[in-house]
Amino acid sequence: MIRLLILGGSGFLGRAIAACAAAAGHDVTCAARGQSGSIASGARFVFVDRDDADGLESLTYRAYDAVVDVSRHPGQVRRAVAALKGRTGHWTFVSTVSVYADNRTPGQRADTAPLREPTAPQIDLGTEENYGAAKVACEQAVGEGALICRAGLIVGPEDPTGRFSYWPARLARGGEVLAPGMPEDAVQFIDVRDLAQWIVHAAQVGLTGVYDGIGPPRRRGEILAECASALGSWCTFTWVDRAFLEEHKVRRWAGPRSLPLWLPLPDFAGFATRDTAPAHNAGLQVRAVAETARDTLGWLRASNGPVDGLTIDEERELLAAWHAKLSRP
Ligand SMILES: NC(=O)c1ccc[n+]([C@@H]2O[C@H](COP(=O)([O-])OP(=O)(O)OC[C@H]3O[C@@H](n4cnc5c(N)ncnc54)[C@H](OP(=O)(O)O)[C@@H]3O)[C@@H](O)[C@H]2O)c1
Repeated sequence: MIRLLILGGSGFLGRAIAACAAAAGHDVTCAARGQSGSIASGARFVFVDRDDADGLESLTYRAYDAVVDVSRHPGQVRRAVAALKGRTGHWTFVSTVSVYADNRTPGQRADTAPLREPTAPQIDLGTEENYGAAKVACEQAVGEGALICRAGLIVGPEDPTGRFSYWPARLARGGEVLAPGMPEDAVQFIDVRDLAQWIVHAAQVGLTGVYDGIGPPRRRGEILAECASALGSWCTFTWVDRAFLEEHKVRRWAGPRSLPLWLPLPDFAGFATRDTAPAHNAGLQVRAVAETARDTLGWLRASNGPVDGLTIDEERELLAAWHAKLSRP
């Protein structure tokens, strides 16, 4: 049993880490403001405001074997490291694959891939615009002797973004499905529960170093077919190319009028083909996408959770336009 402090714990991943650790019998404290969401059952909540200069003081009266920090803000990370790192056995910082400078080259590894320039030392806040650079600054503030876990796309039940959820929701309706790019295009993601499990395991065994926290690259066609089959759904896939999608103002990756998980190639050929052998060898295990799809759909139905992407009408209109284009001489 370890005493685990999660700096966060009220968001998607932090809550999953707390749930996993508490279920394994660890003593779990989640330190946050309590604004982002609930705390996993079995975990203790401590109010902190990390934007205050001495906001973590209440945490310094207790000893922890391991800390997991999910912050996006260099100032918060610098203050946490100064207040707690020297007195804690193990430190995990949850970073992101958005720290990488090169999204085009396939097969890169965490220990050798070039990084973006960090945000300037006087920048305390991470924003949507400086996200990757701010995370590089966070990693640098954490320094040596820690686990830097660069997460890729995190998916599964309770995902607040609605990105991956688009696919189980869409596939469950069956019929002709508009699919982006080619069936052999790579996609890469991690079920939140698998990432949480690995982060808890890493804290237990004292794993340090820099790793990509993501499942192996898979082909988009296989993933969609496996999800449809797991949902007992009958679908045909109409694969639509980048030029058509861009001409019809379909967004990449996420958001309204998007096809979630689609990133145009070759610009992003490296984003979804990261080499995950090091993480796998260090204990990361991933479940079958069929289970992720079934559980995500079950959660969506039970909770009316968010789904991003094309509406039913948008998809129908796009399919009609695509078939009209193909039938033109
Ligand atoms: N989702 C993805 O696909 C994805 C992909 C790659 C990497 N990541 C990384 O994975 C991590 C995701 O973490 P997450 O899902 O747990 O959630 P998150 O939404 O990033 O959570 C941030 C946590 O920090 C807490 N927090 C924020 N400001 C605070 C403050 N001033 N004082 C105290 N606590 C504060 C929030 O709690 P309160 O608001 O309650 O205070 C929340 O628990 C992030 O590091 C992200 O960069 C995510």
